[in-house]
Parts: sequence; structure tokens; C-alpha cells
Amino acid sequence: MFFLQKEKDLVNKIDKEKLPQHIGIIMDGNGRWAQRRGMPRVYGHRAGVNSVKEVIKSCGELEIKYLTLYAFSTENWKRPKEEVNFLMDLLVEYLSKEVDELNKNNVVINFIGDISVLPDKCKIEIERAQEVTKNNSGLVVNIALNYGGRDEIVKAVKKICTKVLNKELSVEDITEQTISENLHTKNQPDPDLIIRTSGEKRLSNFLLWQSAYSELWFTNVLWPDFRKKHLVEAILYYQTRKRRFGGI
Ligand code: FPP
Repeated sequence: MFFLQKEKDLVNKIDKEKLPQHIGIIMDGNGRWAQRRGMPRVYGHRAGVNSVKEVIKSCGELEIKYLTLYAFSTENWKRPKEEVNFLMDLLVEYLSKEVDELNKNNVVINFIGDISVLPDKCKIEIERAQEVTKNNSGLVVNIALNYGGRDEIVKAVKKICTKVLNKELSVEDITEQTISENLHTKNQPDPDLIIRTSGEKRLSNFLLWQSAYSELWFTNVLWPDFRKKHLVEAILYYQTRKRRFGGI
């Protein structure tokens, strides 16, 4: 009860006029969370799903428009095969259990990253989730899966070069907007706020182009312990920042 009141007090401090439109989260620290409990790393990934659920629900309540969650990077394939398989199975389980509820809550599920190389069981659930929720008008949740910012930029460059070779675009007409429009996040605002848990202070190939002017918020909290109050703390921090976008 006391905690709930404290959380409400924090939420009441949020200036609704200055909400970040797009929040990105690097969900880090699942492995350490599990190891501290003497459990295998994958136990932390499973616990991390509860944080995913809470953050999506909270962003909906706070009327945030876009949330991007970094679930699996292009570099995460270097992990032991069992851990990679576990993460893929966890995603399939999460989607098959949660899509109907997410749909009821008007959430749009969107995947960013190279989905084409994922196991078929993942692709089937991903396509179903995107199809079922595509006409919703609420929070857009981008799940970054087999995602890398550099890979995304390389793919954008290739698409642009193809248009130039096909004479659909001239080199002189290439602008920053051309790059943005050829990324997975096309038509979405850049993230205003990026959160990273677990005490690490780096972007690790997350939304490299889009994060040019993002505010960054780091916390020592490990991802499985991340709750609504931490999200609200990050938003309150964001609202203290003066965003100048290179101006004065
Ligand atoms: C980083 O912690 C976490 C990941 C690479 C996976 C994130 C996945 C989830 C939170 C669960 C599934 C997601 C969805 C969207 C259903 P780490 O393993 O690198 O932790 P460590 O730094 O302590 O080793």
C-alpha cells in the first residue's frame, strides 16, 4: 500500500505536456540477476519477461506513443547455443500467451531487426503478432530482435544504392531524411529517452542513427528488478533536461 502511494506520488510529478514520445530500453542484467541467486542465466531471462510486461503496461497508462525494447542483438548469436535457443523459445512463448491481451489493450507489436534468419517457429509468431495488432491505435512496441544499429544502416545504404542504380533517386537528393526513411523505424519519431539497466553505460549498437539527440538514463537496477517506478524516475529525469538539439 505504502509503495503504491509512493509510485502514485511519483507519477503525479510527471508533466503530461512534456512526455517523451519514444522511449528505448536496453534491457541488461538478466544473467547477473540469476547468478546472484545461484541460478542459471536463463532464469534471469524468464524473470525479465515480467519486467517487459510491466513496462509495456506502464507506457500504455502513461500515454507514451513508442517503446523500443532491445531483446536480441546481432552480436547475441555469440552466446552459448542453449541460451540462444532459450531466448527464441521464450519469445515464442511470450507472444503466444500475450498477443491477445496486448491486442485488447490497443498495443501495436512491431519487430525491428533481421527477422528473415530466425527459426520458423519465431517467424510464425512474429507475423501473427504483427498482423493481429497492426490496426491498433495505442502504444507501438518495437521489439528489436536480431537487431544491430550498424546492420540497419548498412541495409539502408544498400536500399538507397539500389534506388540510385534504378534511377529512382539521384545522389544529390540523398538527405538525412532519406536514411531515416530506409531504417526499420521509418515513420517513427527518434527516441527521446534511452534507458539502460544494470550499470553499463554504452549503447551497444542500439538505434545508432536514431539516438543522435536522445537523452540517456542509466540505472544500476538489473532488468528483472525494473518496475514502473524506475520508468517514472527515468521520465522525471528526462523532463529536467534542456534539449537544445545543437542550438543554444
Ligand atoms: C541482457 O541481459 C538481456 C538479453 C540479451 C535478453 C533480453 C530478453 C528478455 C528481457 C526476455 C525476452 C524478451 C521479450 C521481449 C519477451 P544479459 O543476459 O546480457 O545479462 P548480463 O549482462 O547480466 O549477463
